[in-house]
Parts: sequence; structure tokens; C-alpha cells
Amino acid sequence: MIVLEEEKEDIFRIVVQPYAASFDCGSNETLLHGSRRCGLTLFNNCQQGECGKCKVRIREGRVRLGSFMPSALNFDDLRADYTLACRSYPLSNLEIIAELSGWPEERHYSRLHEDFSSID
Ligand code: FES
Repeated sequence: MIVLEEEKEDIFRIVVQPYAASFDCGSNETLLHGSRRCGLTLFNNCQQGECGKCKVRIREGRVRLGSFMPSALNFDDLRADYTLACRSYPLSNLEIIAELSGWPEERHYSRLHEDFSSID
């Protein structure tokens, strides 16, 4: 009998400054996807690592960065702890500096078990 170990997804708390907003993000989803699932809108455009519109600065914590175009994120950006929300998977709790659209109040979002299919 073969028993496959289930891949465990870690859940991390992402704090977004200067809004003092936060959301929960799985280690298998990007910061952008996690934020949108929770009802936040991190500024973005292409969602494919090409435009750089989703650039955020990591104040604390670590991410795994997937593939991206150098025109979207250059070495100076990386040295200054910038990353792309559409290509970054959390490896720890994070504090990021980012732009949110239409953000009215301080709040924590945890909607990890909601249906992802409604996210375009
Ligand atoms: S939205 Fe274009 S690089 Fe992330």
C-alpha cells in the first residue's frame, strides 16, 4: 500500500502598511491572489510578472519569488527588498508596504475556505 503524504500548506499573516490592514495567505498562493481572495485589492495589472504594477516592499519576512520579467523588477528593486505580489509566495508572516485601491479602514481578513472560483 502506498500512502502519499498530503502536501501541507502553511498559512501566514500578511500585514499591509501604511493601511494596518492584514489578510491570511497560503504558502501555495501568491500575495496578490491571497489578498484578492480576502477582498483586498493590491494594485496590479498583468498578473504575470511583466508590468511591475504590483510591486510591493517587504519590510519584514521572506517570500519565494517565481519567474518575472527583468523590466518588471530589476536588481536595484531586489536589493531594496521589493518584490512582485503576483509572483511572490509567502514563506513566513510578512509586513509589506503596498498600495491598496479604495481602502477605508483597518481590518483583518481571513477567508481561506471560500470558493476561489469567483475570483477572476
Ligand atoms: S501585476 Fe504585472 S507584474 Fe504583477
